[in-house]
Amino acid sequence: MAGKKRKDDKFKKNILCIGGGYVGGSTMAVIAHKCPHYKVTVVDINHNRINQWNSDMLPIYEPGLDDIVQTTRGKNLFFSADIERGIKEADIIFVSVNTPTKTFGTGAGMAADLQYWEKTARQIRDASDSNKIIVDKGTLPVKTALAMERILTATNNDVHFDVISNPEFLAEGTAISDLIDPDRVLIGSRETPDGIHARNEIVGIYKNWVPEERIITSDIWSSELSKLTANAFLAQRISSINAISALCEKTDANVNEIAHAIGLDKRIGDKFLSASVGFGGSCFQKDILNLVYLCRYYGLNEVADYWESVVRINDYQKERFIFNMLLTMFNTLVDKKICLFGFAFKANTGDTRESPAIYIAKRLIEEKAELVISDPQALENAKMDLGGMDGRIQYVEDPYEAAAGCDAIAVMTEWDMYTNLHYEKIYQSMSKPAFIFDGRNILNHKMLFEIGFNVFPIGKPKLSHFRER
Ligand SMILES: NC(=O)c1ccc[n+]([C@@H]2O[C@H](COP(=O)([O-])OP(=O)(O)OC[C@H]3O[C@@H](n4cnc5c(N)ncnc54)[C@H](O)[C@@H]3O)[C@@H](O)[C@H]2O)c1
Repeated sequence: MAGKKRKDDKFKKNILCIGGGYVGGSTMAVIAHKCPHYKVTVVDINHNRINQWNSDMLPIYEPGLDDIVQTTRGKNLFFSADIERGIKEADIIFVSVNTPTKTFGTGAGMAADLQYWEKTARQIRDASDSNKIIVDKGTLPVKTALAMERILTATNNDVHFDVISNPEFLAEGTAISDLIDPDRVLIGSRETPDGIHARNEIVGIYKNWVPEERIITSDIWSSELSKLTANAFLAQRISSINAISALCEKTDANVNEIAHAIGLDKRIGDKFLSASVGFGGSCFQKDILNLVYLCRYYGLNEVADYWESVVRINDYQKERFIFNMLLTMFNTLVDKKICLFGFAFKANTGDTRESPAIYIAKRLIEEKAELVISDPQALENAKMDLGGMDGRIQYVEDPYEAAAGCDAIAVMTEWDMYTNLHYEKIYQSMSKPAFIFDGRNILNHKMLFEIGFNVFPIGKPKLSHFRER
């Protein structure tokens, strides 16, 4: 057993996380908070991100995160740019780097881009001079752990590595409560004595706060594939209710009533049945496309087509939203001023990755509309997402100011604050006729109609002041 590791005797174990993003940062903050006897270090190649983690302006917004970081940082939670030192000192290394969709070469637009993950594997191997457990925390194609093992053992030193799969199931916006009170923690390993020993080490971390019955263990391939499957099922629920919302709009049925009626069936359940402008976020689309790519790779074309349709319905839902706006606003959006309420892909996060709002904004600009974008957390990201279109877009945090003078409001994000605004005042400040397209079905549609708005929810009868002929 190699044993040259410098150990800080104050702590029982040194945990390192490579990749200080949404998952790495939040997960390590919670581990540090729940395990004061471990030293937890987060490293990242992005030095700016590390500086932000060490400042009062954390790089990500998650309810509860600031408090946890404040109480642990400098005590047993550290953020550092020194990756090599972090690797040398660690007993356990979590890998939580980004695995976006590949944009080039074979598998472009479908497969996972594993370049960041691969570089990390090599870096761990080259800097290690003592035995380590490597924990894949990211969402990876099934069998990636095998590639990790092959990279780690490709040079002939006497360091022993065990590779574990511990996919993260947190949802942005509720990351901290999800981590503190998870539905389950999944830990997969090789079913060898070494593999099981390493797996038990990771179980030992979570046992500090997660009830044992919620920590489940499995073989390593099932663990890897469970994460892709979970995201595919979640996204499929959204596309299923969104597909029904399209039919509701043609038939005067109400998708909320349907969701309520079917959700009471215990076999279906009532979660994730809200119709909307579509799902977003960094994971759903990329993970389904990754699953589709894997199925095609293994020759399972029917299975691939089935999952691919979930993404197709999501694209259709976004385009349907634009088409409804265009049709309703007299078939032209040229020079119309449209206010987007929300830009984050969901409430309680500043993350805009794959947000439907990006697509909607770009399509509205294509139609030559002018945009005013409002969001309590995501304006900086929105500016980056829409960079280069600056002439026709304003960014205004205050929703009253943002909506003033606009022809229409389109709700993109289900922030609570949008349900409690003084809509009478907003209506008075807007150009007439005034329209609201509620892409999240969060507003009181009847009340808005009575104020004077023409109201277009998702999957519910429209409330229009125009007489049908
Ligand atoms: N965001 C989510 O809600 C979520 C949930 C569950 C799982 N996941 C998965 O977790 C993984 C991480 O996702 P994320 O959202 O935290 O990504 P992220 O982009 O927010 O963070 C990844 C970080 O890794 C850093 N990085 C990349 N290469 C590196 C290297 N060689 N050395 C050190 N740092 C490096 C990047 O600079 C970045 O800060 C992905 O596989 C993702 O699919 C994400």
